[in-house]
Amino acid sequence: MRPGLIERYRDHLPFGPQDTLVTLLEGGTPLLRAPMLSERVGAEVCLKLEGANPTGSFKDRGMTCAVSAAVREGAEAVICASTGNTAASAAAYAARAGLRCAVLVPDGKIAMGKLAQTLMHGGRVIALQGNFDKALQMVRELADTHPIALVNSVNEFRIEGQKTAAFEVIEDLDGAPDVLCIPVGNAGNITAYWRGFTEMGTAPRMFGFQAEGAAPLVLGHPVEHPETVASAIRIGKPARGDQALQAVRESGGAIRAVSDAEILDAYRFMAVKEGMFFEPASAAAVAGLLKYGHDGAKRVVCVMTGRGIKDQQTAMEHHAGSIIPCEPDMDALVEAVLG
Ligand code: F0G
Repeated sequence: MRPGLIERYRDHLPFGPQDTLVTLLEGGTPLLRAPMLSERVGAEVCLKLEGANPTGSFKDRGMTCAVSAAVREGAEAVICASTGNTAASAAAYAARAGLRCAVLVPDGKIAMGKLAQTLMHGGRVIALQGNFDKALQMVRELADTHPIALVNSVNEFRIEGQKTAAFEVIEDLDGAPDVLCIPVGNAGNITAYWRGFTEMGTAPRMFGFQAEGAAPLVLGHPVEHPETVASAIRIGKPARGDQALQAVRESGGAIRAVSDAEILDAYRFMAVKEGMFFEPASAAAVAGLLKYGHDGAKRVVCVMTGRGIKDQQTAMEHHAGSIIPCEPDMDALVEAVLG
């Protein structure tokens, strides 16, 4: 059996052979060529398919480490604030480990699929009358004063686990790409990729993309009321903002903004032209590449952070397909199919 990522990369991770590992066999996700996108952009573009992880997002890489560490420390419960994916991942890994799990989410603001996942795993969902930034501030405070393991990406084990995605990209391409395009929310993942690349002695330019209505790192100040169709990255005060800015500075990249319209165009383009359905936050990476160009790169990797089916509501509101009602007779069917 292919091992989970801690076993695969144990030499680079803070776990020893005696540690009990909580794994759902995360990592080892495909790097897929994107021919239509490559043609439009004028560079060879590959997609890192992080939706292929067990709960459908990149969070599982960090969660195998964070929950394994929580078990090692004797924790009985884990907690996180979340725009949805962290909650789903934390609930799954906590279930696997036999730990209790509570998640604090902005009430009514997370995609239904992510909420369903969290509930299915037995997570306790606390619907906060406030946004993600407030939720994170509150769980940090709670974890400081109670014996509950905080599994947001402020937890170092999360970054350690997530850096392995950079290792895999390097293995698959036989070296780093010239440019990495990645959506930025709380800024943990861009921090993790940069750590992974630099640990391997590589330095691709890092281009992070935020949604225009939730772009604190582009504006240079927190956003009090972040808004975007990409609910996963509706964040106004990224916990690892400084590290994200450091990563782009050191790598010669940038953090830039894309509009919701641009995100939705990229979302549909990937589904209709590449046959790949990603969630809107993931599409922000492609939107950014389409908007700002490859910047002289030959090889570009876009990090596709989560699966499209997690957010069915946005899909139903913005798809390019059609539903045609049909009476049960052949003439009607012929008209419906060919008309
Ligand atoms: N893409 C998706 C699908 C996400 O769920 C997130 C973050 C990001 C991108 C941004 O990653 O925060 O490391 O910069 N989701 C978090 C959550 C905030 O709670 O699920 P980041």
